[in-house]
Amino acid sequence: MIGIFDSGLGGLTVVREVMARLPGYDLIYFGDTARTPYGPKSPETVIQYAVQIAKWLLDNGAQVIVVACNTASSVATEALRQRFGVPIFEVVSPAVRLVIQNSHIRSVGIIGTRATINSGIYEKMIKAERPEVKIYSRECPLLVPLVEEGWLKKPETKRIVKKYLYPLKLKQIDTLILGCTHYPILKDIIQIKIGKRVRIIDSSQTIAESIKYFLKDHPETEGMLSRNSDHRLYVSDITGHFKQIAQDILRIPVKLEHVRL
Ligand code: DGL
Repeated sequence: MIGIFDSGLGGLTVVREVMARLPGYDLIYFGDTARTPYGPKSPETVIQYAVQIAKWLLDNGAQVIVVACNTASSVATEALRQRFGVPIFEVVSPAVRLVIQNSHIRSVGIIGTRATINSGIYEKMIKAERPEVKIYSRECPLLVPLVEEGWLKKPETKRIVKKYLYPLKLKQIDTLILGCTHYPILKDIIQIKIGKRVRIIDSSQTIAESIKYFLKDHPETEGMLSRNSDHRLYVSDITGHFKQIAQDILRIPVKLEHVRL
């Protein structure tokens, strides 16, 4: 099984893209709805949660771990790799690779939670390979709660997106990385506000692509993964509202199961 986790339900954007590219593969998802959001938390706390969840996924049948959460990917990937001897996929490097491989990209904007932006991970990884690329980062802490409230088309949301993106627009970036699980849900508004000439890198899509290519190149791992279209979704807290958000993201009827870690 492919084990996927996030701080909450935003990681279902990654599940959606994985299901589209790897149909039939069994997957187990854990959304830490009881402890969300991770964005304002310290790296130590996020690492502790990520290790606990990865262990739970492995104990429950996962053979690979996908860190759908940008915040956890930014601060906890190394700790997970040190502790667990299974393939660990995270959302940062596939987006970074796209920038590194594309010499037309010269000026990149990155938006994410406070923890992701403070980690500086995107800048470090891009600069290590392409020091000439200009990078402008911006934390956008209000976007996650707006998405979770379902305020996707409200004028207030459009105004806040515009305000967050304005400094990046002034810098005339050519590429914008959506460094948070929730931002693909606002992609249309983000594209309008940043301008249609700016290319958007959606990390939920880039990670799904990279898992697909990894499995093609690693038959020993691919062979371990079962393919019965079994998709299990677990959360650490459950309300009717969570179910609605999950269905809105996955666009199919879902059954969420409650589990206490
Ligand atoms: N999943 C988080 C991320 O992608 C966003 C929500 C949170 O702050 O926990 O960074």
